[in-house]
Amino acid sequence: MARRILVTSALPYANGPIHLGHLVEYIQTDIWARFQRLRGHECYYVCADDAHGTPIMLKARELGLAPEQLIEQMAAAHQRDFADFLIDFDCYHSTHSAENRHFAELIYQRLCEGGHIERRTIEQLYDPQEGMFLPDRYIKGTCPRCAAADQYGDSCEVCGATYTPVELRDAISVISGERPVVRESEHYFFRLADFEPMLREWTSPEHLQAEVVNKLNEWFEAGLRDWDISRDPPYFGFRIPGTEEKYFYVWLDAPIGYMASFRKLADERGIDFDAFWDASAAEGELYHFIGKDIAYFHTLFWPAMLHGAGFRTPSAVFCHGFMTIDGQKMSKSRGTFITARTYLEHLDPEYLRYYIAAKLGPGVEDIDLSFDDFMQRVNSDVVGKLVNIASRCAGFITKRFDGRLAPSLPEPTLYREFAAKSERIAELYEGRDYCRALREIMAMADQANQYIDAEKPWEVIKDSERAAEVQGVCTVGLNLFRVLIVMIKPVMPRLAADSEAFLNLPEQSWSDIQQPLLDHPIERFKPLKTRIDQQQVEAIMEASKQNLSGSDSGSETVSGQAGEDPSDGRLAADPIEPECTIEDFSRLDLRIARVAKAELVEGADKLLRLELDLGGETRQVFAGVRQAYEPEQLIGKHVVCLANLKPRKMRFGTSEGMVLCAGPGGDQLWVVGPEQGAEPGMRVK
Ligand code: MSP
Ligand code: ZN
Repeated sequence: MARRILVTSALPYANGPIHLGHLVEYIQTDIWARFQRLRGHECYYVCADDAHGTPIMLKARELGLAPEQLIEQMAAAHQRDFADFLIDFDCYHSTHSAENRHFAELIYQRLCEGGHIERRTIEQLYDPQEGMFLPDRYIKGTCPRCAAADQYGDSCEVCGATYTPVELRDAISVISGERPVVRESEHYFFRLADFEPMLREWTSPEHLQAEVVNKLNEWFEAGLRDWDISRDPPYFGFRIPGTEEKYFYVWLDAPIGYMASFRKLADERGIDFDAFWDASAAEGELYHFIGKDIAYFHTLFWPAMLHGAGFRTPSAVFCHGFMTIDGQKMSKSRGTFITARTYLEHLDPEYLRYYIAAKLGPGVEDIDLSFDDFMQRVNSDVVGKLVNIASRCAGFITKRFDGRLAPSLPEPTLYREFAAKSERIAELYEGRDYCRALREIMAMADQANQYIDAEKPWEVIKDSERAAEVQGVCTVGLNLFRVLIVMIKPVMPRLAADSEAFLNLPEQSWSDIQQPLLDHPIERFKPLKTRIDQQQVEAIMEASKQNLSGSDSGSETVSGQAGEDPSDGRLAADPIEPECTIEDFSRLDLRIARVAKAELVEGADKLLRLELDLGGETRQVFAGVRQAYEPEQLIGKHVVCLANLKPRKMRFGTSEGMVLCAGPGGDQLWVVGPEQGAEPGMRVK
């Protein structure tokens, strides 16, 4: 039975170019959507630019453009990049659109009617010079916990503390460099906690990956807080109906952009919108692909908003991990902030599609792009294994058999075996286990090459009595090739199209795998793919370093957040991690320690200096427990210490470990200790 499926990827911000990290997501989603269509299902893939918010407003100002001009230019550039990476959207729209305004207002109105929106006056930092309230990411200052300088308004990158910008010491506005002042303003809040029962029920393996379910349970335990959905001017966004000058926070209308984009598509093509969005929609399936950094928005706020406004909730949300390059965050100065465009100037987009797919599993693990591995993998799998099958067989058919395949297969079992694998491969694609699917496809490619090796057509052809056999062998080879091409088609659609042209075939679908191609004319073979050259890779890195000298003086390393505060500190500090293996755990050297000394630290009202006895060895640790303990309360206590934590130089001295504590922080913090009998120095395992 044909399914009806709507798929989305997260909407990229309209203030910067598409880079290789983004592409993990768009490639992952595109493969899935192409796979569904190849299987004969009705599948729509929609996306849009995320056009609102402070960073976009400021970026436009910096470039001397109106925000509308900036987002228009960005939308064009993004779509060019996506098209060149063969990302096949059915509709690519913008959150700054009439459709989106309609749905944002509608959902807001229904949430108001349901009593889920509340008004409250809050205090925020205000930049008097710029005349604007400052998002957390536009404030820097000294961490109130560890006193590290130059930290953002929401969390400290040194000690991991989260706090409000008002708590930050010596705060300055990143925009003007001026000292901000505290000012009051009325804000609108979405009462997320109203939806806790519904969200708890929705939080199940049917809708979410195991790691995400675990994370949500932690969020439930911590308590669901109200969500601030309004912003004061100047702000680039939609004005909240019924207000003089309040705007919807960008994250309110961003996911609604999924609906807006589909609305546009539905209108253009006459598709039944309600079949996918109505609360009672039983038939249409709705899936969101996202990065793990934005799970909070998609697994709590979004389903709650939809439910509260009388729409359906997603069939599932699929999270993926982050891409690192050579084991590190993408970085401008290392030349690893690689834009989609720079890559395209040097290399075939399908190579990146192949490599990313070969690394992607169904979980939330980060994936690493190592250029050596990338080159080796593509050259050996795509060129050396897959394309090689065709190039070894095609010449004989063209030159000796008039370009025609044999009327029957001398080796039907091998073909049957390959065709029989198609259901297994389909299951792997369906479950987003692309790395396993490709591993199995490449194992089949090995088998096909071994078959040709064993049959030795290049020798047999010399024996005039046996030369006819070669047509059969090459027909088997090309049929195996065709099966593999259909299987890999969601990943490498252009290779598939070129191969279809070479084999003289109409566009293939998944079920075509079952019918061998016999007594059929083929075209002359042209190399379908060529090997990657080391120089091409080097040129990409070089060009990425040069991009640096341009006007873009943005942040040094790049994460998913484009500057806007996530309006919820937990997001930045509390990412979803994949499950921890025994091996991961065993890397932690946890030791029982006795607090030999504890004293106040001058100039740090949240720290105590501890001397820990680890059974003969003494360590100095600065622990952020000052508000919970007087020094003398700790002396003599047995605690758990992370002994192999990288030592950290602080203003007061070096901290050589960490003491394990439980609790939310501040004065609500308890040191974790062992049962009696455990002695200093013992390993915790
Ligand atoms: N605009 C928001 C999403 C709104 S969805 C209603 C946003 N934009 S983004 O441009 O920062 O990121 C878009 C997507 O790309 C996110 O899912 C994000 O997780 C993903 N990635 C951005 N950098 C990435 C990597 N380095 N690696 C993998 N995915 C990354 O968030
Ligand atoms: Zn800190």
